[in-house]
Amino acid sequence: MKTESVREHFRIQVPDYQGLMRRLIPFYDNQRDVMLALIPFDRGVSLRVLDLGCGPGLMAARILAEFPHAQLTLFDLTAEMIEACQSRLEGTDRIVYQVGDFRTADFGTGYDLIIASLSLHHLMPSEGPAFAKRAFQSLGPGGHLITAGVIVDESLEVRERL
Ligand SMILES: C[S@@+](CC[C@H](N)C(=O)[O-])C[C@H]1O[C@@H](n2cnc3c(N)ncnc32)[C@H](O)[C@@H]1O
Repeated sequence: MKTESVREHFRIQVPDYQGLMRRLIPFYDNQRDVMLALIPFDRGVSLRVLDLGCGPGLMAARILAEFPHAQLTLFDLTAEMIEACQSRLEGTDRIVYQVGDFRTADFGTGYDLIIASLSLHHLMPSEGPAFAKRAFQSLGPGGHLITAGVIVDESLEVRERL
């Protein structure tokens, strides 16, 4: 999909984003629980976190609540998604917002944690290795990248249970 089409696709989703995702993605809300459980840092430490393709900030809200000393950079292609984050998360000074394309933009360095949920499938397969290198270079020592996506299981038994 072209960048402008991706932006338009998500721009119109903003008003009912969570409802739509709950209908489209099995266990959408549980995905955030699983990602949080995978974060290998004590809840009280200072962390620099980058959320790539942050959408309207649902995961960011969970990280802010669970990690009281985390500083977040919320990064998204769609300005309306960033505006939705700003509405949802207003009142905190622990966030930097950035509108940009994670395939090309400089998203900073020194992160302890990069998360990317349901966003990296927007990369073309050929763009994967260069992205992985840039993400790796953006992490500080001991940093982690946690991603989440959707895989369609080929077995009928699994698909019938969803
Ligand atoms: C399906 S939403 C996922 C949002 C959120 N991470 C979640 O789990 O609900 C995908 C998000 O990725 C963003 N996105 C898609 N391609 C992008 C790109 N090249 N650079 C930055 N953000 C992108 C979209 O604007 C959209 O907000």
